Amino acid sequence: MDYAAVKLVHQGAVTLSIGGFALRGAASLAGAGWVRGRLAKTLPHIVDTVLLGSALWLAWMLRLSPTATPWLMAKIIGLVVYVALGVLALRPGRPPAQRALYGLAALTVVGWIVSVALSKNAWGFLAPLVGQGG
Ligand code: HEM
Repeated sequence: MDYAAVKLVHQGAVTLSIGGFALRGAASLAGAGWVRGRLAKTLPHIVDTVLLGSALWLAWMLRLSPTATPWLMAKIIGLVVYVALGVLALRPGRPPAQRALYGLAALTVVGWIVSVALSKNAWGFLAPLVGQGG
């Protein structure tokens, strides 16, 4: 597969991951039963595996190392935080207000990762706040 195709797969997985998470989060808060179904539980793992696999493939094709590329390191850390907040948001048993807050935090973090991806700046949309813009 050429670079453009892998990048398209990566961007597609990103879209499915964010859209799927927002949908499951909203449905879970609304008490929908399908959120606990088999498909809703396995599909996200497949999407996230494709997301990470394509990410590593792109980085490998560009010969980029996270330790030498701050924006890449920022994305990896961001992905771990996004997944952790997502797990908390979807975990049953917590008060709905708390889950909604975790869900919004997860969406904010993934929005920040997209801003890091587009700007190739490790601070992403926080850059102007910390004087790291430009
Ligand atoms: C939720 C997590 C992630 C999101 C939302 C995300 C988002 C994106 C987006 C939107 C692009 C396209 C950028 C453009 O059009 O220039 C992109 C490209 C890329 N991403 Fe990710 N990504 C994520 C995780 C990762 C991770 C963990 C890595 C590294 C291991 C990674 C490595 C890359 C690379 C190398 C490119 C290609 C950059 C280029 O062609 O200039 N991504 N990502």
